[in-house]
Amino acid sequence: MASASATLLKSSPILDKSEWVKGQNLRQPSVSVVRCHPTAPSALTVRASSYADELIKTAKTIASPGRGILAMDESNATCGKRLASIGLENTEANRQAYRTLLVSAPGLGEYISGAILFEETLYQSTTDGKKMVDVLVEQNIVPGIKVDKGLVPLPGSNNESWCQGLDGLSSRTAAYYQQGARFAKWRTVVSIPNGPSALAVKEAAWGLARYAAISQDSGLVPIVEPEILLDGEHGIDRTFEVAKKVWAEVFFYLAENNVMFEGILLKPSMVTPGAECKEKATPQQVADYTLKLLHRRIPPAVPGIMFLSGGQSEVEATLNLNAMNQSPNPWHVSFSYARALQNTCLKTWGGRPENVKAAQEVLLVRAKANSLAQLGKYTGEGESEEAKKGMFVKGYVY
Ligand code: 13P
Repeated sequence: MASASATLLKSSPILDKSEWVKGQNLRQPSVSVVRCHPTAPSALTVRASSYADELIKTAKTIASPGRGILAMDESNATCGKRLASIGLENTEANRQAYRTLLVSAPGLGEYISGAILFEETLYQSTTDGKKMVDVLVEQNIVPGIKVDKGLVPLPGSNNESWCQGLDGLSSRTAAYYQQGARFAKWRTVVSIPNGPSALAVKEAAWGLARYAAISQDSGLVPIVEPEILLDGEHGIDRTFEVAKKVWAEVFFYLAENNVMFEGILLKPSMVTPGAECKEKATPQQVADYTLKLLHRRIPPAVPGIMFLSGGQSEVEATLNLNAMNQSPNPWHVSFSYARALQNTCLKTWGGRPENVKAAQEVLLVRAKANSLAQLGKYTGEGESEEAKKGMFVKGYVY
């Protein structure tokens, strides 16, 4: 028995690269048979990605104290809506100008550890001709990439959706790694008013798990994001029940796909009442419910929980995060906001070159506020009225 457990320990998923059989490469099946004892039944052991050490390191870097993720990976269609809100056309030049402003905000890396990019940005240069990826690395920010191909209707469900993008994913993730990406994001959604049906939850969880395994195999830390949409009139208890079900299923399939938990990051929705619920929740209530959910469902091996903002106002998202960091947590509890980091910045810019500096300062104010919230030290003082406006949109796509 002792020798059997020693063998199993040796073939644990956290293998050093050097423990790999010489000559084995990514194309070969990463499954090997280990016999524990000549007469004992054989055990099928799955080897970890050859990137295991690097994945753990990347995840830890992103989940470093006082820092979080800037989500700037809006698809061209969503970016177009943002640009339209300030009267700009959805051209590549305008998207480039806006994203140049974001990545080159001076000192951003003090508060931001990772930036999620859309594919166009990963291969794009700034307006002054530097690679966006290089600017991020100089700022000490890890570049990441959105790899899902968006949501489509899920046949056989109650008007729910599923997330596309698994076909050809391994060649894309390998190319993204070559281009400098070190983590990935896959966002799928679950709708409470539409069920969620068992089929939709299972599909969401399975897709996330397959994506996570493929990303790890290419050296990218997968951000696992089953967004539970804010849409609905339901109370906070209902959100809690649905979130428990969703995360149970996600972790079931992550384990089944041999995903290494130390090398992933999660991007959950906070547990809140539905956006159309009459009863609102205080930051303390949101923190209590959300932490209870995390404790019941998320293993401590997971290094970081990077929340999405989901339509909350900038200040609300920061206050809620701050409330969750009032006592130590087993995981780094932080942010991966798009709207709650960018909203006032975008409005301040308004597409005018003379406003770039002011817009970058506003971005830094939000990034610093969330950095303080990650450390549990945000007070909420001196915030603008604009930053207190909610951004909920029914049936939001990304
Ligand atoms: P929001 O913070 O705007 O919800 O976006 C986060 C997100 O899902 C993008 O990764």
